[in-house]
Order: sequence, then C-alpha cells, then structure tokens
Amino acid sequence: MKAIIPVAGVGTRLRPHTFSNPKVLLNVAGKPIIGHIMDKLIEAGVDEAIVIVGYLGNMVEDWLRKNYSIKLTFVDQPERLGLGHAIWMCKSHVPEEEPLFIILGDTIFDVDLGPVLKSQFSTLGVKEVADPRRFGVAVTGGGKILRLVEKPDTPVSNLAIVGLYFIRHSGQLFSSIDHLIDNRILTKGEYQLTDALQHMIEHGEKFTTFPVQGWYDCGKPETLLSTNEILLKNHTTTKTYPGCIINDPVFIAENAIIENTIVGPNATIGENSVISNAIIKDSIVGSDARVTHIMLNQSIVGNNATVSGNPNEINIGDFSEIRLG
Ligand code: UTP
Repeated sequence: MKAIIPVAGVGTRLRPHTFSNPKVLLNVAGKPIIGHIMDKLIEAGVDEAIVIVGYLGNMVEDWLRKNYSIKLTFVDQPERLGLGHAIWMCKSHVPEEEPLFIILGDTIFDVDLGPVLKSQFSTLGVKEVADPRRFGVAVTGGGKILRLVEKPDTPVSNLAIVGLYFIRHSGQLFSSIDHLIDNRILTKGEYQLTDALQHMIEHGEKFTTFPVQGWYDCGKPETLLSTNEILLKNHTTTKTYPGCIINDPVFIAENAIIENTIVGPNATIGENSVISNAIIKDSIVGSDARVTHIMLNQSIVGNNATVSGNPNEINIGDFSEIRLG
C-alpha cells in the first residue's frame, strides 16, 4: 500500500523554527514529527511513501533516506497551490486501480490503521470537535458521508476531518482533482482536497468515516508542546544524571549533557545539547543547544541556540518572599 505524505508547506505558524527547518523535522518527544508518522505507517503495512516536498525539501529527503529503508518517492510541488494540487502532483506514481492512503505531514495519530487500509469503501478519519468552524467537516447519514464542507460558517456537523484519508479508487480522486484544475475551482485561493472528495461523493463514490481519538496536531507552538506532553506519557528514564533531578516523563538524548539541572516533567532534550544549572519543564530543546542558569517552561529552543540567564546572587533574611521576573 502506498501512502502520500504532503509536506511542501512553509510552516509559517511555527516560525522562527521553520526558517531553518522544515516543520516535519521538528523534534517532538525525541524524534521528528515525520518520524512518528512513518513509524505508524510502516507498522500498519505501508511499503511505499510518496512524499510531496517543496520548502526545504532536500532536508526532508536526506533525513528520510538516512532513517528508513522502505521505498521512498519524492515529488516536488514547486508552488503551494493547495492540498488538492499537492496530491495531483503524484498522479503518475499511483496506478488508477490501486487504493491509496493520504496523511498530512503535521498530524501525529494514534489509531489502528489495519482495518482502515482494508476498508471496502473510501473512508476518512474524523473526530468530534466543539468548534468545527476551523475544519473541513463530514455530514453523515445512513452509514456514509452525505457531504463534506470546508470550514463551515454555520454548524452543519461537528465531525472534523483530521487529515487521514483512505481512498479506494485512486483514479477517481485524480479525475476529480483534474476537474478542479481544468475548471479553476479554487476555495480560499487553493485547490482543496475536500472539494475533490466532495466531487467524488457527488459522482457516486461511497465514503464512510472512522474515529480518530488520538489526533495530535503539530502545526503551532502550543500544539507542538501539548503533543510533546501527550507522546511522552509513560516514558521513563533509566539513565541517572548525578546532581540532577529528572521528573519523568522526559526524553533526554543519549549524548546530551545535563548538569545541576531539574528536567521535566514533559521535557524533550535533543542530541548533543548541554544543559546546566537550569530547570526545564513542559518544553522542547533542540539539538546542539546550550541552556544555562535559567528556568524554562512552555518553551521551544531551536537547534544550536544558546539561552542563558543571570545567576542571581542574593542574601535575604528570614520570612522574605521574592519573585524574580
Ligand atoms: P498546512 O497549511 O496546515 O501547513 O497544510 P503549512 O503550510 O506547512 O503551515 P502554515 O499554515 O504555513 O503554518 C497541511 C499539510 O499539507 C501540506 C503542508 O506541508 C502540511 O503538511 N501542504 C499544504 C502541501 O504539501 N502543499 C500545499 O499546497 C498545501
């Protein structure tokens, strides 16, 4: 089974980190976002990944080729014209009669894909959300999807489409995107995958839904940090660091140096980083970073960055209360 992973986007919401790294290579709970996705896909039996690259695409390609041995095909999307367009770029790599799985490059999921990839019908991963206005949603009835609506202004359904798509008939998907492109049908300035799927529904393709409880977005700093926290759950550290307190769950790269520091909970420390005289919780520190004399909370420190604070020397009397900003 082939899986398409579109990762051509610029990741503007994760700047400044995405000025120098593609979003999917940002470290969350000890490995890049795309590493979590690839591991799940391979576990489910996917044997070829078609990766749509654009912005900093060479870095994505180098990392994947170095770390995975399944068949990898890279397709360049020179202009970001939307998800529908991105998928359309893969047309020559997917035989019409084959089924296809698509997963967005910034969605880490926890769902058993086994039954999904064997589904008799096309099926989309959904999750109930309180406010569906930010998502594409599925209106269902009679055991199937009746229609799909991209970012509805009026509440038609609270079943958000979360970025996992199993397409039974690839040929029909590509014909539907052809239809959008030939007729320049854009929504919010982009060729939308949702519009192509809606076109398939209108032409008789049956779509069902499957529930995705574990759906961890990595598109914004706050969601990257909450995903880091969720993925670290139950992670325990066996290595000891003299003079340090480790509050699990944390991920500390094997060769990171930690001195006089409290790490965790919910902290990821990348390779070759040196942390000393610090307190780091609910944060991600990239690789080759230096963090000293500071307390970090809800923070993301990029690769090769240096953060240091002032060690405060104080001489305070009994019953004092001091809050340093
Ligand atoms: P997003 O729009 O959420 O990601 O697209 P982005 O563009 O990287 O991030 P922001 O919005 O600027 O912060 C969801 C996924 O679809 C891919 C993106 O790379 C991302 O993985 N995508 C989107 C493409 O590959 N091509 C496109 O034309 C659009």
